[in-house]
Amino acid sequence: MSRIDNLMARMTLAEKLGQLTMTASSYTVTGPVIAGDSTQSIIDGTIGNLLNMVGAGPVHEMQRLAVEKSRLRIPLLIGLDIIHGHRTLFPIPLAEAGVFDENLWERTAREAAREGTADGLAMTFAPMLDVSRDPRWGRTAEGPGEDSWLNARIAQAKVRGFQGNDLSSPEAMAACAKHFVAYGGVTAGREYAAVDISERNLREVYLPGFAAAVHAGVATLMPAFTDLNGVPMTAHIPLLRDWLRGEMGFDGVIVSDYNAIAELIKHGVAADLVDAAVLALKAGVDIDMMADAYRKGLPIALEQGRVTIEEIDASVRRVLRLKEQLGLFDDPYRRGATPEPAAVVARRHALARDVARRAVVMLKNERDTLPLSAAAKALCVIGPLADASTEMKGPWWGAGEHEPAISVLAGLRAALPQTDIRHAPGVAIESDDESGIEAAARLCDGADAVLLCLGERATMSGEAASRATPALPGRQQALAEAVMARAHALGIPVVAILFSGRPLVVPWLSEHADALLAAWFLGVEAGHAIADVVTGQVSPVGRTPMSWPRAVGQVPIFYGQRPSGRPMNPADYFTSKYQDVDNTPLYAFGHGLTYGRFSYDDLQVAPPRVREQDTLKISVSLRNVGAREAEETVFLFVRAKVSRVTRPLLELKGYAKLRLKPGEAGSVDLELRAAELRLLGPDLQPLFETGEVEILVGPSAEQTGLLRQTIELC
Ligand code: BGC
Repeated sequence: MSRIDNLMARMTLAEKLGQLTMTASSYTVTGPVIAGDSTQSIIDGTIGNLLNMVGAGPVHEMQRLAVEKSRLRIPLLIGLDIIHGHRTLFPIPLAEAGVFDENLWERTAREAAREGTADGLAMTFAPMLDVSRDPRWGRTAEGPGEDSWLNARIAQAKVRGFQGNDLSSPEAMAACAKHFVAYGGVTAGREYAAVDISERNLREVYLPGFAAAVHAGVATLMPAFTDLNGVPMTAHIPLLRDWLRGEMGFDGVIVSDYNAIAELIKHGVAADLVDAAVLALKAGVDIDMMADAYRKGLPIALEQGRVTIEEIDASVRRVLRLKEQLGLFDDPYRRGATPEPAAVVARRHALARDVARRAVVMLKNERDTLPLSAAAKALCVIGPLADASTEMKGPWWGAGEHEPAISVLAGLRAALPQTDIRHAPGVAIESDDESGIEAAARLCDGADAVLLCLGERATMSGEAASRATPALPGRQQALAEAVMARAHALGIPVVAILFSGRPLVVPWLSEHADALLAAWFLGVEAGHAIADVVTGQVSPVGRTPMSWPRAVGQVPIFYGQRPSGRPMNPADYFTSKYQDVDNTPLYAFGHGLTYGRFSYDDLQVAPPRVREQDTLKISVSLRNVGAREAEETVFLFVRAKVSRVTRPLLELKGYAKLRLKPGEAGSVDLELRAAELRLLGPDLQPLFETGEVEILVGPSAEQTGLLRQTIELC
């Protein structure tokens, strides 16, 4: 008899429901208190899983209760949100997406897993795979941005990184693909609001990331808080049971979001907790996080014949199997057995700095304002985010809460010890007080350049952080205007550095700043990374994974829109446009400048006629016509010319990178399997449609910068 069969045969109903329950503990090492319950429940076997614990000491202390004091000695599964690093915080996921580097996405997850497992943890609630096209939604910060192909690549890299090849390794943790599905489509970008999207959008845009995670072997998955077209995801039988478990063959653990089962009552689909528990279990949700609906509701439901013991058992088995795969039965203390050596942590910080500098997106750089001249004697570092080390970490700092982070000011002072670096915040991030603006502007006198550090507080993005006007908060616009006026009157260039968990609506700043950097939230090494970029130690390589709107009214704005029968034409009144703003984004998906300048030429695509089983070979020549060495990211898009269904104006299918010295030329080779050009036909079934397809290659999704070639599918 297997270990699991043996346990199943001996478990009481209460013990089974304990395995289906996950409860939050206190957050820090100050003393493990189980919320709304007690450690006695672990000993009783009625709590089998915990979240929000930090530190190998407390984790092992709880584990000991389960393994040494409970009747059946079943180990606990203990998880935490490790969203962009555990203690060593990397750039937020949105920023990391823009690095376009699968090895790097995997490495940061691997390092986060190493650090998290050293703290005794066996599970993370990541990766977050919510495609998002609406910067009002604060959780854009946690995800991949607007593109579904990119999301799928990230999904696979992250699952590989967290889980490795062997879940039982002391350095591996179970990943959790979340939030299933289409959470990013919340109405008007408002957190937790209803989602209503078409079946086509669901299949083309939102599901592929989850399919990719399942193919990569993700161990667990979390349904979104939200409803989809009228059915809350926590109770969504067609998607959880039929699509995920059925079509995709996912047999891992489905864990509810925090209190989400009880929230089925507020959604109005469950009358009470018993009803809610029945709906979630029937949909295939195995673990109830924080609602206590399973423990309270399922015994009653079972008695009433509304669920069967077989349904409960199936979930219990999945949880026990995960614990077994994680090696918890064999050695529950394998994670966190030895503290990490200082050298390992130092190497991780070096990685954090490297990723952070690669995540910076240079949106604008007029007259080569950046890098700063080595001859600069005095710099002004102005703005509420200049000396804001805590903000650099961004939302979801998890166990990194008390870790030091490097501010821009500290980073610049370390990089330029001989330079006179002046600093004034000018204003606070959000307050109405303008009294510091004048003094800040006066600092510019006699300086060589101004670095204006503006943006959001870290907690203005992330969960429950929607903003109707995702622009500069407080009086930062007034500060920017005053500083810019003074600096420009003196002939001093202004570099604006923006911190945010989303693209911000900043048309004025974009027009007036001499250079503009999107620094997102870069993590513990932020200040060093920014110093590396602005001093020219490295050339920027980051690309924006979301379009930047010119006005909030353009939202949702994304490059993969479908065409209109009346495409925008300024000369024709009755066309698809706004009267008050262009259709185009301020900065397109994929946009990001380097210190080089790349010209594109000679796009070759072969063969000219392809069948479904063929692979296209694509190459393009590049020359760095700029004055500095740099690495360019080259994007590959496609578009069907005529199709039975309207297709997006562009679809991303690949990317490649090339580093070139000034004056140097080289070429980039890309491959595309023709099968990837399959689309969903009018009946939503996969279809390899014959006809002409355009292959487009260039530096971003901005149409004017793309080289194109037509091939024929036959
Ligand atoms: C969030 C999840 C998270 C969970 C546990 C919820 O509020 O939506 O993303 O994993 O809390 O912390």
